[in-house]
Amino acid sequence: MSEDCRTSHGQCDAHNHDAHLPADSLTVAGPIGAVARTKTTRRTFIKGVIASGAAVGASGFVLRGEAQARTAGAVERLVSLKINGQTKRVDVLPHETLANTLRNKLNLTGTKLGCDRGECGACTVMVGDTAVYSCTTLTHSVADKEITSIEGVAKGGKLHPVQQAFIEEIGPQCGFCTPGQVMSAVALLKANPKPTVEQAKRAMSGNLCRCGSYQQYLAGVMRAAKGA
Ligand code: FES
Ligand code: FES
Repeated sequence: MSEDCRTSHGQCDAHNHDAHLPADSLTVAGPIGAVARTKTTRRTFIKGVIASGAAVGASGFVLRGEAQARTAGAVERLVSLKINGQTKRVDVLPHETLANTLRNKLNLTGTKLGCDRGECGACTVMVGDTAVYSCTTLTHSVADKEITSIEGVAKGGKLHPVQQAFIEEIGPQCGFCTPGQVMSAVALLKANPKPTVEQAKRAMSGNLCRCGSYQQYLAGVMRAAKGA
């Protein structure tokens, strides 16, 4: 679901996909995003959508039934977020995740969405000095906290030692997981500037890498720690 999620309805505010759909429905990825399937076929569903005038959001995501009503009734509230040393005012839905606010409202797309359900670590940011999954963090819950995303890690045009070390150890392959890996490593070194390899492994264990660059990232963390 993660790939479909990111590419087919990256603008979608809801992170629980089934929340968009009637309880007895299943989701099917399609060219216009996730669509609902009941006991009938995709064809009959699409006919039903056309017949019922189900809403199609700006992102092309189809919203139906109860979930549509919930989303339609949700009210955004203006909040001030402290991100990367700046205060940003942004309208936020009650159920909106930090990942969605960052990516879709503040255009901070360095934070990636992989699984969108707290499993892969691609969306990792820091709240205060703690690494958190932004896909499972409600934006309203961090409205009064200091948030750091990958865009705020380099300072004055100079890469953070973790970023530099990852480059030197050739950690990134496709690079999709890299921002999350960087954020976890930065949080680790902030809390523990001289971790053991075991401690570093444990701290990085919430970040999956589909390219399998675990050793390189680990070496990068230890390299950055040496320079710290
Ligand atoms: S996107 Fe996978 S943990 Fe958030
Ligand atoms: S470098 Fe490709 S997913 Fe980690």
